[in-house]
Order: sequence, then structure tokens, then C-alpha cells
Amino acid sequence: MITVTDSLLPTPLGGTLINRVRPLHDASELRGLPTLELTDRAYADLELIATGAYSPLTGFLGEADYLAVIHTLRLDNGTPWSVPITLPIPREDARTYRGRVVLTRSGAPVGLLDVTEQYDARKALEAREVYRTEDAAHPGVAALYAAGDVNLAGDVTLFDVPRGAFPHHHRTPAEVRATIEARGWRSSVAFQTRNPIHRAHEYLQKVALELVDGLLLHPLVGTTKGDDVPADVRVRAYEVLLEKYYPHTRTLLSVYPAAMRYAGPREAILHALSRRNYGVTHFIVGRDHAGVGSYYGTYDAQEIFSAYTREELGVQILKFEHTFYCRTCGQLVSPRTCPHDAAHHLVLSGTKVREKLRAGEHLPAEFTRPEVAEVLRDAYLAAGD
Ligand code: ADX
Repeated sequence: MITVTDSLLPTPLGGTLINRVRPLHDASELRGLPTLELTDRAYADLELIATGAYSPLTGFLGEADYLAVIHTLRLDNGTPWSVPITLPIPREDARTYRGRVVLTRSGAPVGLLDVTEQYDARKALEAREVYRTEDAAHPGVAALYAAGDVNLAGDVTLFDVPRGAFPHHHRTPAEVRATIEARGWRSSVAFQTRNPIHRAHEYLQKVALELVDGLLLHPLVGTTKGDDVPADVRVRAYEVLLEKYYPHTRTLLSVYPAAMRYAGPREAILHALSRRNYGVTHFIVGRDHAGVGSYYGTYDAQEIFSAYTREELGVQILKFEHTFYCRTCGQLVSPRTCPHDAAHHLVLSGTKVREKLRAGEHLPAEFTRPEVAEVLRDAYLAAGD
């Protein structure tokens, strides 16, 4: 029997939504403890762990989990997991960090780490297995190589959820779950993106919205590589688009604080599992999800999900083929729906789009809605001043 307390939302991975947020009541509890200044990425990971977006993780991975994730796509206890969430530090600092450590941002305490373990990062192995390349030109591999050689492991505490640059779009997994429940969505789909919403993205979202009750538009706003469109510009573009072209009661714009790793297939799994923790039933994976350059095959990020059963994943993956505008069909299509060859298609690479914007040119309306193109053009022109 369904009672009012029964939730239709998927259970978090591991069964419980982790919550390791508690205020710092008394600064004297920090006295004498070593401090560790977090990078942007580590701070984002701290938030994602502490708010339950990375449930069942309660802290940065220990060595057994680290190696299990790398080799088996699972934590040591068999739970699906794809990208090691680690806290690397320089080897020369390792002696400083034993027991309880105060985590800081610009010197101010933001949380705690109870160090239980220190171990060597296996950088070449991690690059090969997680990123599928040891090429330092890959931005995720470059970040891995630039980080320290020793990983600190242990449970974390976060004193306060950082609401960041977009406070009115910033929701924890518990808050997104509560919103989904309040809206009565019996099914919902999350859309991960690090880009402005072009027509192809919109098409995927709206096809999905034909099937489920609600759309969680969940743009990643953590660190991205230098030539990706900055998050503040993208958020402005999402707002104008949603205002004009999306059903308000069936759409929720909320930001996802993670840094981009560009780990393609492995990151697609991380994106899907964490969105399950935010409470959605479905997750979109299109072409070259979380990819960069030509490191991954177009559909590698879809195929990798066969490593798990549907029950283990706990979120249904909606897979889409490459989508584009066909001038002859007069609509957005994919190879599954369009009989015409490439000469009929409008396909613009990210590089081409950036070139056009830098030159102050308009993007074709079939590629990007004029309202979004306007926001992007203004931002590019302002940056060029
Ligand atoms: S990502 O790094 O966040 O994956 P992006 O914002 O470009 O990059 O993509 C968001 C989602 O839309 C991903 O699932 C991606 O696979 C999908 N996607 C982007 N463009 C297309 C397209 N033209 N056709 C099909 N899927 C696409």
C-alpha cells in the first residue's frame, strides 16, 4: 500500500543519502590542527561527498577502493563506481597530515578530514584506465599529472554548503529530491551539460520530456577547461531559454557543482550515479558524453553502462544518437530518423562555434536559438574588448 510517506524517487546509491554537513559551533575545536587548502576541484568534491551527491562515499577514497574502482568499475564492496574521488597532496607535505585536518578555502576553515590512510597515487595506471590515455594534452590527465603524488583518505565534514555564484539555482541532492516530490513528478530525467543549450540538446531534453514527468536541467558549473563557455554566461543563456521555450512546471534548473574531468565513458557513469542520488529516475547520455578531442568513440559512453545491471545502476539511461538539423527534413533529426546524407545536414563543431562567436558572427537559428546566440555573442564580444 502506498502511504503519503512512500517516495517514488530512486533510493540513493548504497541505500542512504549521505549527509556530512554540520556547522562549526566552536572554532576552538580546530585549534592546533594542521590545515589543508583545497583546490577548486577538491572543494567541489568535498561538497558533493558531504551533501550526498556522491553517496555512498563518506570521504575521499582509501587505497582498496581506489584500486577497485580503477580495475573493476566498482568500490571494494562491489557497489558501482567509476572515477576515483581522491585528495592528492605533494609527497613532502604527507607527514603533516595525520589524524584530523582542517580543510580551508582562502585560509578560512570549510570542513574537516579525518585521515585514515595515505597512499601513492598510481598516475599512469589511473590515466590509462580512467581516461583511456596517458597523453598529457588531455585536460583530465593533465590535472591528474599536475596534482600531488600522495592521496589522503578519510571521512569528511563540511561546515556549510557553499551556494557559490548561483545561489538561487544551487540545490543539494536533498533539496532537489524535495522539489521533485513537491511537484509530484513520478518520473524525471536529468540532463548533464557543460555547454550552452543548442538545438540538439533541447531536442534530446524534449524528446525525453515526452516520456517522463519532469526535466532536471543540471549544468555542471565547477572547473572546466579554458575554452569551454564560462558557467555564468551559460547560466544566463539557460535562464533566457527556459523562460521562453520550456514548460515551467515540468522543468527545474539547478546547478551541479562538480569539476569536469573529461573522462568520457567513466565520467558518464559518475554523472549518472550522482544524478540518481539527486533523485531522478532517468539520465540522458548522447554522443561523446563528457568527451574531449577524439579520445573516445562516439558511443563509448553509452556502451560502458553494460558493465552493470539496471538494478545496480538504479537510474535508467536514455541513449541518444548524434542529433543535428536536416535542411531537407526541416527539423532536428538523427541517423535513426533522417534518410538524407551529410550534404543536407547542419553540423557545427565546438571549435567552429567558438570561431564564429569570436568573429562576432551570428549562429544559425537552426543550430542555436537567437536568444541564446545573443547571450553568447555579447559575452564573446565583451571578452574580446
Ligand atoms: S558534456 O561534457 O556535458 O557531455 P555537452 O554539454 O555537449 O557535453 O553534452 C551534454 C549531453 O548532450 C551529453 O549527454 C552529450 O552526449 C549530449 N549531446 C551533446 N550534443 C549532442 C548531439 N549533437 N547529439 C546527441 N547528443 C548530444
